[in-house]
Amino acid sequence: MRVFNFAAGPSALPLPVLERVRDELLDWQGSGMSVMEVSHRGKAFVALAERAEADLRGLMGVPSDYRVLFLQGGATAQFTAIPMNLAATGDTADYVCTGVWGKKAIAEARRFCAVNVVADEAASGYTTVPDAASLRFTPGAAYAHYTPNETIGGVEFPYVPDTGGVPLVADFSSSILSQPIDVRRFGLIYAGAQKNIGPSGLVLVVVRDELIGKARAGTPPVWDYGVMAREASMLNTPPTFSIYIAGLVFQWLKGEGGVAAVAARNAAKAALLYGFIDASGWYRCPVHPACRSRMNVPFMLPDPALEKAFCEQAAAAGLANLEGHRSVGGLRASIYNAMPLEGVQALVAFMGDFQRRHG
Ligand SMILES: Cc1ncc(COP(=O)(O)O)c(C=O)c1O
Repeated sequence: MRVFNFAAGPSALPLPVLERVRDELLDWQGSGMSVMEVSHRGKAFVALAERAEADLRGLMGVPSDYRVLFLQGGATAQFTAIPMNLAATGDTADYVCTGVWGKKAIAEARRFCAVNVVADEAASGYTTVPDAASLRFTPGAAYAHYTPNETIGGVEFPYVPDTGGVPLVADFSSSILSQPIDVRRFGLIYAGAQKNIGPSGLVLVVVRDELIGKARAGTPPVWDYGVMAREASMLNTPPTFSIYIAGLVFQWLKGEGGVAAVAARNAAKAALLYGFIDASGWYRCPVHPACRSRMNVPFMLPDPALEKAFCEQAAAAGLANLEGHRSVGGLRASIYNAMPLEGVQALVAFMGDFQRRHG
Protein backbone atom coordinates (compact mmCIF):
# COMPACT_ATOMS: atom_id res chain seq x y z
CA MET A 1 0.00 0.00 0.00
CA ARG A 2 1.32 3.49 -0.87
CA VAL A 3 1.62 5.83 2.11
CA PHE A 4 1.79 9.60 2.30
CA ASN A 5 5.56 10.06 2.58
CA PHE A 6 6.62 13.26 4.41
CA ALA A 7 10.37 12.54 4.20
CA ALA A 8 12.71 15.50 3.65
CA GLY A 9 14.80 13.65 1.08
CA PRO A 10 14.89 11.29 -0.64
CA SER A 11 11.20 12.10 -0.83
CA ALA A 12 7.94 11.14 -2.47
CA LEU A 13 7.90 11.03 -6.26
CA PRO A 14 4.70 11.56 -8.27
CA LEU A 15 2.77 8.29 -8.49
CA PRO A 16 2.17 8.56 -12.28
CA VAL A 17 5.95 8.79 -12.75
CA LEU A 18 6.59 5.66 -10.69
CA GLU A 19 3.85 3.80 -12.54
CA ARG A 20 5.34 4.73 -15.88
CA VAL A 21 8.82 3.64 -14.73
CA ARG A 22 7.35 0.32 -13.63
CA ASP A 23 5.50 -0.15 -16.92
CA GLU A 24 8.50 0.47 -19.14
CA LEU A 25 11.25 -0.89 -16.90
CA LEU A 26 11.86 -4.10 -18.85
CA ASP A 27 11.33 -2.71 -22.33
CA TRP A 28 12.06 0.96 -22.84
CA GLN A 29 10.76 2.38 -26.14
CA GLY A 30 10.62 -1.06 -27.73
CA SER A 31 14.35 -1.61 -27.26
CA GLY A 32 13.86 -4.85 -25.33
CA MET A 33 16.07 -3.32 -22.64
CA SER A 34 15.56 -1.09 -19.65
CA VAL A 35 16.64 2.54 -19.99
CA MET A 36 19.47 1.69 -17.57
CA GLU A 37 20.92 -0.74 -20.09
CA VAL A 38 21.18 1.48 -23.17
CA SER A 39 24.16 3.60 -24.21
CA HIS A 40 24.19 7.20 -23.07
CA ARG A 41 25.69 8.03 -26.49
CA GLY A 42 22.89 6.28 -28.40
CA LYS A 43 20.34 8.36 -30.32
CA ALA A 44 17.44 7.42 -28.06
CA PHE A 45 19.11 8.37 -24.81
CA VAL A 46 20.59 11.58 -26.21
CA ALA A 47 17.06 12.55 -27.31
CA LEU A 48 15.78 11.79 -23.81
CA ALA A 49 18.45 13.99 -22.22
CA GLU A 50 17.78 16.82 -24.67
CA ARG A 51 14.05 16.66 -23.97
CA ALA A 52 14.68 16.70 -20.21
CA GLU A 53 16.78 19.83 -20.58
CA ALA A 54 14.26 21.49 -22.92
CA ASP A 55 11.38 20.73 -20.55
CA LEU A 56 13.30 22.08 -17.57
CA ARG A 57 14.19 25.22 -19.50
CA GLY A 58 10.52 25.71 -20.32
CA LEU A 59 9.37 25.07 -16.75
CA MET A 60 11.91 27.43 -15.17
CA GLY A 61 12.12 29.95 -17.98
CA VAL A 62 15.89 29.49 -18.32
CA PRO A 63 17.27 32.18 -20.69
CA SER A 64 19.43 31.11 -23.64
CA ASP A 65 22.64 32.52 -22.13
CA TYR A 66 22.44 30.03 -19.25
CA ARG A 67 23.71 26.44 -19.39
CA VAL A 68 21.85 23.55 -17.77
CA LEU A 69 24.12 20.83 -16.35
CA PHE A 70 23.15 17.45 -14.91
CA LEU A 71 26.03 16.52 -12.59
CA GLN A 72 26.76 13.98 -9.87
CA GLY A 73 27.78 14.07 -6.23
CA GLY A 74 24.63 15.74 -4.94
CA ALA A 75 24.38 19.32 -3.74
CA THR A 76 27.29 18.62 -1.39
CA ALA A 77 29.71 18.29 -4.32
CA GLN A 78 28.59 21.76 -5.42
CA PHE A 79 29.61 23.21 -2.03
CA THR A 80 33.15 22.46 -3.30
CA ALA A 81 32.67 22.95 -7.04
CA ILE A 82 31.26 26.47 -6.66
CA PRO A 83 34.35 28.07 -5.09
CA MET A 84 36.62 26.00 -7.36
CA ASN A 85 34.81 27.30 -10.46
CA LEU A 86 33.91 30.83 -9.46
CA ALA A 87 36.59 32.12 -7.07
CA ALA A 88 40.34 32.51 -7.45
CA THR A 89 42.57 32.17 -4.40
CA GLY A 90 42.53 35.57 -2.72
CA ASP A 91 39.01 36.39 -3.95
CA THR A 92 36.25 37.04 -1.46
CA ALA A 93 32.95 35.15 -1.58
CA ASP A 94 29.96 36.39 0.42
CA TYR A 95 27.72 33.90 2.24
CA VAL A 96 24.39 34.39 4.00
CA CYS A 97 23.82 31.71 6.62
CA THR A 98 20.30 30.75 7.68
CA GLY A 99 20.88 27.17 8.79
CA VAL A 100 22.70 23.87 8.60
CA TRP A 101 23.17 23.71 4.82
CA GLY A 102 24.48 27.25 4.57
CA LYS A 103 26.98 26.44 7.32
CA LYS A 104 28.24 23.41 5.42
CA ALA A 105 28.61 25.44 2.23
CA ILE A 106 30.61 28.07 4.13
CA ALA A 107 32.95 25.51 5.70
CA GLU A 108 33.75 24.14 2.27
CA ALA A 109 34.28 27.55 0.62
CA ARG A 110 36.74 28.54 3.37
CA ARG A 111 39.14 25.94 2.00
CA PHE A 112 39.41 27.88 -1.26
CA CYS A 113 38.91 31.61 -0.77
CA ALA A 114 38.20 34.35 1.75
CA VAL A 115 34.65 33.99 3.02
CA ASN A 116 32.71 37.00 4.24
CA VAL A 117 29.62 35.96 6.21
CA VAL A 118 27.23 38.77 5.37
CA ALA A 119 24.59 37.59 7.85
CA ASP A 120 24.25 34.63 10.20
CA GLU A 121 20.92 33.99 11.90
CA ALA A 122 22.42 31.92 14.76
CA ALA A 123 21.04 34.34 17.38
CA SER A 124 17.45 33.30 16.56
CA GLY A 125 18.37 29.62 16.50
CA TYR A 126 17.99 29.79 12.70
CA THR A 127 14.28 30.60 12.83
CA THR A 128 14.57 33.87 10.86
CA VAL A 129 16.05 35.36 7.69
CA PRO A 130 17.92 38.69 7.71
CA ASP A 131 16.18 41.89 6.77
CA ALA A 132 16.68 42.48 3.04
CA ALA A 133 17.83 46.05 3.71
CA SER A 134 20.47 44.95 6.25
CA LEU A 135 22.50 42.88 3.77
CA ARG A 136 25.81 44.49 2.79
CA PHE A 137 27.50 42.57 0.01
CA THR A 138 31.20 43.02 -0.76
CA PRO A 139 31.70 45.11 -3.91
CA GLY A 140 33.73 43.01 -6.32
CA ALA A 141 33.08 39.72 -4.49
CA ALA A 142 33.45 36.64 -6.71
CA TYR A 143 29.88 35.64 -5.84
CA ALA A 144 27.29 35.75 -3.05
CA HIS A 145 25.75 32.48 -1.83
CA TYR A 146 22.54 31.82 0.08
CA THR A 147 20.09 29.01 0.75
CA PRO A 148 16.59 30.07 -0.35
CA ASN A 149 15.06 27.21 1.64
CA GLU A 150 16.79 25.61 4.63
CA THR A 151 15.42 22.08 4.66
CA ILE A 152 16.14 21.21 8.29
CA GLY A 153 15.05 24.44 10.00
CA GLY A 154 12.13 25.03 7.61
CA VAL A 155 13.21 28.62 6.90
CA GLU A 156 12.52 30.11 3.47
CA PHE A 157 13.48 33.54 2.09
CA PRO A 158 10.40 35.52 1.06
CA TYR A 159 12.64 37.62 -1.19
CA VAL A 160 15.64 37.31 -3.52
CA PRO A 161 18.64 39.24 -2.11
CA ASP A 162 19.83 42.24 -4.09
CA THR A 163 23.62 41.85 -4.38
CA GLY A 164 24.28 45.00 -6.36
CA GLY A 165 25.82 43.17 -9.30
CA VAL A 166 27.70 40.41 -7.46
CA PRO A 167 26.69 37.06 -9.05
CA LEU A 168 24.08 35.44 -6.83
CA VAL A 169 24.49 31.70 -6.18
CA ALA A 170 21.56 29.82 -4.66
CA ASP A 171 21.20 26.34 -3.18
CA PHE A 172 17.64 25.57 -4.30
CA SER A 173 17.86 21.87 -3.30
CA SER A 174 14.61 21.85 -1.36
CA SER A 175 12.55 24.43 -3.23
CA ILE A 176 13.51 24.13 -6.91
CA LEU A 177 10.45 24.13 -9.21
CA SER A 178 8.11 24.81 -6.26
CA GLN A 179 7.29 28.36 -7.36
CA PRO A 180 8.21 30.58 -10.31
CA ILE A 181 11.58 32.35 -10.05
CA ASP A 182 13.27 34.88 -12.29
CA VAL A 183 16.43 32.99 -13.33
CA ARG A 184 18.01 36.25 -14.50
CA ARG A 185 18.38 37.33 -10.86
CA PHE A 186 20.86 34.48 -10.36
CA GLY A 187 24.36 33.72 -11.60
CA LEU A 188 24.08 30.09 -10.59
CA ILE A 189 21.26 27.91 -9.27
CA TYR A 190 21.90 24.39 -8.01
CA ALA A 191 19.71 21.70 -6.53
CA GLY A 192 20.19 18.14 -5.37
CA ALA A 193 17.51 16.13 -7.15
CA GLN A 194 16.01 14.11 -4.32
CA LYS A 195 13.18 16.44 -3.33
CA ASN A 196 11.46 17.99 -6.36
CA ILE A 197 13.34 16.39 -9.27
CA GLY A 198 14.15 12.71 -8.89
CA PRO A 199 16.69 10.28 -7.41
CA SER A 200 19.48 11.35 -5.05
CA GLY A 201 23.02 11.74 -6.39
CA LEU A 202 21.93 13.79 -9.40
CA VAL A 203 22.43 17.53 -9.02
CA LEU A 204 21.10 20.19 -11.34
CA VAL A 205 23.21 23.29 -12.07
CA VAL A 206 21.87 26.26 -14.05
CA VAL A 207 24.67 28.74 -14.65
CA ARG A 208 25.10 31.95 -16.62
CA ASP A 209 27.54 31.59 -19.55
CA GLU A 210 29.85 34.35 -18.42
CA LEU A 211 30.63 32.50 -15.15
CA ILE A 212 31.76 29.40 -17.01
CA GLY A 213 35.34 28.58 -18.00
CA LYS A 214 37.13 30.15 -15.04
CA ALA A 215 37.75 27.05 -12.94
CA ARG A 216 40.97 27.12 -10.93
CA ALA A 217 43.83 24.79 -11.80
CA GLY A 218 43.30 21.40 -10.20
CA THR A 219 39.50 21.38 -10.55
CA PRO A 220 38.45 17.81 -11.42
CA PRO A 221 37.09 17.80 -15.00
CA VAL A 222 33.76 16.30 -13.87
CA TRP A 223 33.30 19.35 -11.60
CA ASP A 224 34.51 21.91 -14.13
CA TYR A 225 31.46 23.76 -15.48
CA GLY A 226 33.32 24.67 -18.69
CA VAL A 227 34.21 21.06 -19.45
CA MET A 228 30.78 19.73 -18.52
CA ALA A 229 28.97 22.42 -20.53
CA ARG A 230 31.12 21.65 -23.57
CA GLU A 231 30.41 17.93 -23.20
CA ALA A 232 26.64 18.38 -22.60
CA SER A 233 27.12 16.84 -19.10
CA MET A 234 28.45 13.68 -20.76
CA LEU A 235 32.21 13.88 -20.31
CA ASN A 236 31.82 10.52 -18.64
CA THR A 237 28.85 8.17 -18.22
CA PRO A 238 26.07 10.26 -16.68
CA PRO A 239 23.53 8.91 -14.16
CA THR A 240 21.21 7.77 -16.95
CA PHE A 241 18.41 6.32 -14.83
CA SER A 242 18.28 9.47 -12.69
CA ILE A 243 18.14 11.72 -15.76
CA TYR A 244 15.36 9.54 -17.18
CA ILE A 245 13.29 9.92 -14.00
CA ALA A 246 14.02 13.65 -13.79
CA GLY A 247 12.73 13.95 -17.36
CA LEU A 248 9.51 12.13 -16.43
CA VAL A 249 9.05 14.40 -13.39
CA PHE A 250 9.43 17.46 -15.66
CA GLN A 251 6.80 16.03 -18.03
CA TRP A 252 4.51 15.38 -15.07
CA LEU A 253 4.98 18.93 -13.86
CA LYS A 254 4.08 20.29 -17.30
CA GLY A 255 0.95 18.13 -17.28
CA GLU A 256 0.01 19.56 -13.89
CA GLY A 257 -0.01 23.04 -15.40
CA GLY A 258 3.63 23.99 -14.78
CA VAL A 259 5.38 25.68 -11.90
CA ALA A 260 2.78 28.42 -11.32
CA ALA A 261 -0.03 25.88 -10.96
CA VAL A 262 2.01 23.70 -8.61
CA ALA A 263 3.01 26.81 -6.62
CA ALA A 264 -0.66 27.59 -5.98
CA ARG A 265 -1.17 24.04 -4.72
CA ASN A 266 1.94 24.29 -2.56
CA ALA A 267 0.67 27.54 -1.02
CA ALA A 268 -2.68 25.92 -0.20
CA LYS A 269 -0.98 22.89 1.39
CA ALA A 270 1.31 25.06 3.53
CA ALA A 271 -1.54 27.39 4.56
CA LEU A 272 -3.64 24.42 5.67
CA LEU A 273 -0.86 22.92 7.80
CA TYR A 274 0.49 26.14 9.37
CA GLY A 275 -3.06 27.36 9.94
CA PHE A 276 -3.92 24.19 11.80
CA ILE A 277 -0.72 24.30 13.90
CA ASP A 278 -1.24 27.95 14.90
CA ALA A 279 -4.93 27.49 15.72
CA SER A 280 -4.35 24.29 17.71
CA GLY A 281 -2.97 26.03 20.80
CA TRP A 282 -1.00 22.82 21.31
CA TYR A 283 1.35 22.20 18.39
CA ARG A 284 3.93 24.91 17.79
CA CYS A 285 6.04 25.94 14.80
CA PRO A 286 9.34 27.56 15.90
CA VAL A 287 9.91 29.51 12.66
CA HIS A 288 9.06 33.21 12.37
CA PRO A 289 5.79 33.52 10.36
CA ALA A 290 7.45 35.82 7.78
CA CYS A 291 9.86 33.12 6.59
CA ARG A 292 8.10 29.79 7.06
CA SER A 293 9.00 27.27 4.40
CA ARG A 294 6.30 26.07 2.02
CA MET A 295 8.23 22.82 1.61
CA ASN A 296 9.44 21.78 5.08
CA VAL A 297 7.18 22.36 8.08
CA PRO A 298 8.85 21.78 11.45
CA PHE A 299 6.62 21.58 14.52
CA MET A 300 6.83 20.70 18.20
CA LEU A 301 4.58 18.95 20.68
CA PRO A 302 4.18 20.45 24.17
CA ASP A 303 5.94 17.37 25.55
CA PRO A 304 8.82 15.91 23.48
CA ALA A 305 8.20 12.56 25.20
CA LEU A 306 5.07 12.22 23.02
CA GLU A 307 7.06 12.40 19.75
CA LYS A 308 7.72 8.69 19.55
CA ALA A 309 4.04 7.81 19.97
CA PHE A 310 3.11 10.52 17.45
CA CYS A 311 5.40 9.09 14.78
CA GLU A 312 4.41 5.48 15.45
CA GLN A 313 0.68 6.20 15.34
CA ALA A 314 1.07 8.41 12.28
CA ALA A 315 2.99 5.66 10.47
CA ALA A 316 0.26 3.16 11.38
CA ALA A 317 -2.24 5.59 9.80
CA GLY A 318 -0.21 5.70 6.56
CA LEU A 319 1.62 8.96 7.30
CA ALA A 320 5.32 8.16 7.08
CA ASN A 321 8.57 9.90 8.04
CA LEU A 322 7.41 12.74 10.28
CA GLU A 323 10.47 12.71 12.57
CA GLY A 324 12.43 15.98 12.71
CA HIS A 325 16.06 16.00 11.57
CA ARG A 326 18.30 14.25 14.10
CA SER A 327 20.23 17.49 14.72
CA VAL A 328 17.19 19.52 15.85
CA GLY A 329 14.59 16.96 17.00
CA GLY A 330 10.88 17.75 17.03
CA LEU A 331 8.74 16.80 14.06
CA ARG A 332 8.79 17.85 10.43
CA ALA A 333 6.44 17.37 7.50
CA SER A 334 8.06 17.85 4.09
CA ILE A 335 5.38 18.66 1.54
CA TYR A 336 7.17 18.91 -1.80
CA ASN A 337 5.50 19.09 -5.22
CA ALA A 338 4.59 15.40 -5.26
CA MET A 339 2.64 15.55 -1.96
CA PRO A 340 -1.05 15.91 -2.84
CA LEU A 341 -3.38 18.16 -0.84
CA GLU A 342 -5.10 14.98 0.36
CA GLY A 343 -1.87 13.99 2.14
CA VAL A 344 -1.82 17.24 4.10
CA GLN A 345 -5.54 16.92 4.84
CA ALA A 346 -4.93 13.42 6.21
CA LEU A 347 -2.03 14.70 8.32
CA VAL A 348 -4.10 17.54 9.80
CA ALA A 349 -6.94 15.13 10.60
CA PHE A 350 -4.50 12.81 12.35
CA MET A 351 -2.90 15.70 14.28
CA GLY A 352 -6.32 16.84 15.50
CA ASP A 353 -7.15 13.34 16.63
CA PHE A 354 -3.77 12.92 18.39
CA GLN A 355 -4.28 16.22 20.20
CA ARG A 356 -7.74 15.14 21.40
CA ARG A 357 -6.29 11.93 22.80
CA HIS A 358 -3.13 13.40 24.37
CA GLY A 359 -3.81 17.13 24.87
C1 LIG B 1 19.30 22.73 1.14
C2 LIG B 1 20.18 21.53 0.99
N1 LIG B 1 21.43 21.68 0.51
C3 LIG B 1 22.26 20.64 0.34
C4 LIG B 1 21.87 19.35 0.66
C5 LIG B 1 22.83 18.21 0.46
O1 LIG B 1 22.41 17.46 -0.62
P1 LIG B 1 23.09 16.07 -1.03
O2 LIG B 1 22.80 15.11 0.09
O3 LIG B 1 22.39 15.73 -2.30
O4 LIG B 1 24.54 16.31 -1.20
C6 LIG B 1 20.59 19.13 1.16
C7 LIG B 1 20.15 17.77 1.51
O5 LIG B 1 19.08 17.50 1.96
C8 LIG B 1 19.73 20.24 1.33
O6 LIG B 1 18.48 20.08 1.81
